[in-house]
Amino acid sequence: MIDKSTIPQVAYRVMNEVHDEEADLLNRLESLLKQEHIDTQAVDDTLQALLAHTKVHFANEERLMQEVSFPAFMMHQGEHLRVLGEMKHTVSRWQAEQDTELLNAYFLGSLQEWLMLHISTMDTMTAQFICAHKGCA
Ligand SMILES: [Fe+2]
Ligand SMILES: [Fe+2]
Repeated sequence: MIDKSTIPQVAYRVMNEVHDEEADLLNRLESLLKQEHIDTQAVDDTLQALLAHTKVHFANEERLMQEVSFPAFMMHQGEHLRVLGEMKHTVSRWQAEQDTELLNAYFLGSLQEWLMLHISTMDTMTAQFICAHKGCA
């Protein structure tokens, strides 16, 4: 489970709220995957919600970066695209194979590690730049 108090806080408040929501969805997925009898419908629904939320999360950051002409936009967007692609690929594999280990390894392992690192680096720099150019929200 992600302890939300350990999520790095960035300077732009709205981004922190979105990161908390993402953690809530990942924690919901973890609870579902811990159950003895996996509710595949609930897992599917949560994965779809997670994909939809991540798309909006990334698109909003990209819009904010463009508003302030953030110099590392392409690099940050590239990371978003790469991870969204991985997420979609993993969900497709899950739908074909129904392998919960795959979901555990990716969504509760590598994706969570990436998310924390991404927030503490690219999102942190981006938020500072947004605050300097349009003020903090
Ligand atoms: Fe973010
Ligand atoms: Fe980001």
